[in-house]
Amino acid sequence: MKNVIFIGPPGAGKGTQAAKLDDMFSFCHVSTGDLLRGEISKGSELGTKIKTVMDSGNLVSDELVAELLKANIDLSSKQYIFDGFPRNVSQAEIFQDEIMEENEYLAVLFDVDTDKLVERIVNRRVSSDGNHIYNLKTNPPKVAGVCDVTGLALVQRKDDTEEVVRNRMEVYLKETAPLVEYYKSKNKLKSVDADLEIEAVTKQIASFLQ
Ligand code: AP5
Ligand code: MG
Repeated sequence: MKNVIFIGPPGAGKGTQAAKLDDMFSFCHVSTGDLLRGEISKGSELGTKIKTVMDSGNLVSDELVAELLKANIDLSSKQYIFDGFPRNVSQAEIFQDEIMEENEYLAVLFDVDTDKLVERIVNRRVSSDGNHIYNLKTNPPKVAGVCDVTGLALVQRKDDTEEVVRNRMEVYLKETAPLVEYYKSKNKLKSVDADLEIEAVTKQIASFLQ
């Protein structure tokens, strides 16, 4: 099985699908957004700097994110779904040269109608440990406000306001969308119709991984 990179705009379903595929194929899910939120929760000086950038919807520096990622993976014994990295061409080069080296990988593009994403995101709720994702409309918890798995309270991410989401979309179009051509030209890109229901998207991605 190859390692997998998920490329897609905010709210496209990257975290949701990574959780499902981890269970089906025993991947490890590594999300740079989650790693950065973990740094913030430590309350360190670095965390405070990261928080200011993330709360505005801009990208944290390539070097910082790459170092954090390297410190949290072990490609010699595990296969990963990389969710949120690389996020621009310069990170894609770091990814190839300093992280993957000879390891194989495939990039999966979440092709989605961006007009629907603001609504998806403002209705997102996550467990307070950040590990489980819900949606008030499309994927609600069994008991309102409570995570089905952990029993923890559901909360809203700080960067999930409409204003910040719109900036995150712009950053995606400017910085991340060029990765589509980048991976296409390397013959490493598969596309999934991420407007479909959650289970249907999982099936499409799973078919690339068999
Ligand atoms: P990150 O945490 O990666 O956020 P993102 O890329 O904006 O993506 P999201 O997590 O918002 O969306 P998702 O695609 O995971 O969707 P989800 O599955 O939750 O990054 C946050 C910030 O960290 C960045 O802005 C940046 O500052 C920083 N950062 C991270 N990586 C970085 C990097 N490499 N370099 C620099 N900075 C970096 O689903 C969304 C909602 O939709 C949920 O409610 C879900 O239930 C619902 N849903 C999912 N799928 C479907 C479906 N098929 N149909 C209907 N509803 C669905
Ligand atoms: Mg996510």
